[in-house]
Amino acid sequence: MAEKNQNQYQPPESNGYHRNDQESLHTMEDEEAKRKKRMKWTIGIIAFIIFQVVQALFFVLVIMKFKSPNFRVSEFNVQTFNVGTQASPSFGMSFVAPIRVKNTNWGPFKYDASTISFTYGGVQVGQMIIPKNKANFKSTKKIDVNVTLSSANLPTNINSNLGSELSSGVIMLTSQGELKGKITVMFMFKKKKTSQMNCTMAINTTTKAVQSLLCK
Ligand SMILES: *[C@@H]1O[C@H](CO)[C@@H](O)[C@H](O)[C@H]1NC(C)=O
Ligand SMILES: *[C@@H]1O[C@H](CO)[C@@H](O)[C@H](O)[C@H]1NC(C)=O
Ligand SMILES: *[C@@H]1O[C@H](CO)[C@@H](O)[C@H](O)[C@H]1NC(C)=O
Repeated sequence: MAEKNQNQYQPPESNGYHRNDQESLHTMEDEEAKRKKRMKWTIGIIAFIIFQVVQALFFVLVIMKFKSPNFRVSEFNVQTFNVGTQASPSFGMSFVAPIRVKNTNWGPFKYDASTISFTYGGVQVGQMIIPKNKANFKSTKKIDVNVTLSSANLPTNINSNLGSELSSGVIMLTSQGELKGKITVMFMFKKKKTSQMNCTMAINTTTKAVQSLLCK
């Protein structure tokens, strides 16, 4: 015992009374236990601080990152489809347009009512209304709206271009719109965001289906 004690820490006997071996051993064990306890506390506090910092970083870099939801039309089949000829070009079609608002934010996106217009050669051939609603956090809002498009109001020069497209068997359409809304994260952090839709689609007049679709 005595030998072992020599190379261990001896507390100063400042309070003046003599300790026997038993006593000092106890004191050393106490010191050791205190030291371990302090160590545990230090590790605990450091771990807690690291946890807080990681949490704060995650919050700022992930949760608080407001992104404009993706606003687009997805593929569809045309239900009624009437096309003219190259000599007398025209089209009329109706379909259910599958509009998608993909919200990747950690909070809902509440948007105002809006209008999407379908154009052919830059001229509007139909439009649809998106009612005011919201896309929940981390989800895609599906809005299916009936649309009717008609070439009736196309100016002559664009209509002649339609003639050559009809003979090729594909009609190129564009859908454009804007969705204005507000994202709310953790019930209190709000940010206004606007999503743009600009999709170009090729509709095959034989299959009456969207053959290619590109959204920006
Ligand atoms: C679209 O119109 C058809 C027939 O007019 C109707 O049965 C259908 O419910 C409508 N769909 C939507 C999404 O409004
Ligand atoms: C339209 O679709 C049909 C059937 O898939 C295909 O054979 C034809 O090539 C398509 N037309 C064009 C212009 O791509
Ligand atoms: C939509 O995209 C087309 C090209 O695909 C571009 O010419 C046009 O300027 C875009 N419109 C908007 C409103 O971004």
